[in-house]
Amino acid sequence: MNRFKGKVVLVTGGNRNTGLYIVEKFVREGATVYMCGSSADSTAKGAEILKARGVDGVISQPCDISDLSQVTALFDTIEKRSGRLDILVNNAANQGLGHGGPLEMDPAKFHEVFNVNVIGGFQVTQTACNRFFMKQESRGVVVFLSSNTAMRAIRNRTAYCASKGAINSMVRALALDLAPLGIRVNACAPGYIYTERWDVLDPAKAARRRLNCPLRKEAQGSDIANVVAFLASDDSANMTGEIITCDAGCSCQHMPEDVDV
Ligand SMILES: NC(=O)c1ccc[n+]([C@@H]2O[C@H](COP(=O)([O-])OP(=O)(O)OC[C@H]3O[C@@H](n4cnc5c(N)ncnc54)[C@H](OP(=O)(O)O)[C@@H]3O)[C@@H](O)[C@H]2O)c1
Repeated sequence: MNRFKGKVVLVTGGNRNTGLYIVEKFVREGATVYMCGSSADSTAKGAEILKARGVDGVISQPCDISDLSQVTALFDTIEKRSGRLDILVNNAANQGLGHGGPLEMDPAKFHEVFNVNVIGGFQVTQTACNRFFMKQESRGVVVFLSSNTAMRAIRNRTAYCASKGAINSMVRALALDLAPLGIRVNACAPGYIYTERWDVLDPAKAARRRLNCPLRKEAQGSDIANVVAFLASDDSANMTGEIITCDAGCSCQHMPEDVDV
């Protein structure tokens, strides 16, 4: 398939894990792709990984999406080099790991997570709409990465779960306001995704996680990239405000198999 030939795409957090697969998907389907990590080092590392995977032509620029001046600078580059943007993928996330439980966590950490996941996602979307989509006859499409933890919480991740819930609400609110203007906004809500963090997991824990999944496997980055590409393509032309769960069936079960019996 070559669904994105001639399209210009921005993937935030495209330098690591799932983001790399999303970038690759759009490149393989003909798009010009921009990606950012939060720092110069992490962005450069991502660019190297993509090159080593044979994913050529990706334009990378570091951008901490919680800092509006860095967002503006990234869009300046897109404007200068491509003069347009067709698809925005809000993939970057602060995972909010290691905060401890809600009674002891530092409230400043809560701000950090929201500043990236919610405020960051919003300001990148607003900039994409004002700088490009509203000036283009063909408008544009936004895809957010949410999480199934927006609907079913996981322990000691209060800020992250809350931020993903906020993203779901924001997707619906943005979709409602932007639909009459011709801009679609949807989300993919993954469950477990295989990332570099699985490489250091105790194998027994990885097996237990897989047992939590009715399909008995976590998603690969490419599974998530396929859903993102569907939501970014004309195949979903009549969809907006939707959140598609991609979690190996986790959300349809009441309890994992070994708890049920
Ligand atoms: N992994 C899972 O099991 C899972 C499950 C459900 C949902 N999700 C969602 O799916 C998406 C991808 O997940 P993932 O696990 O692949 O992500 P990840 O490994 O945690 O990577 C996060 C990405 O976001 C970037 N990022 C973090 N803070 C940023 C900032 N301030 N400005 C710009 N970029 C920033 C990181 O860049 P640096 O490299 O510079 O830090 C990195 O590229 C996320 O939205 C995540 O919440 C993941």
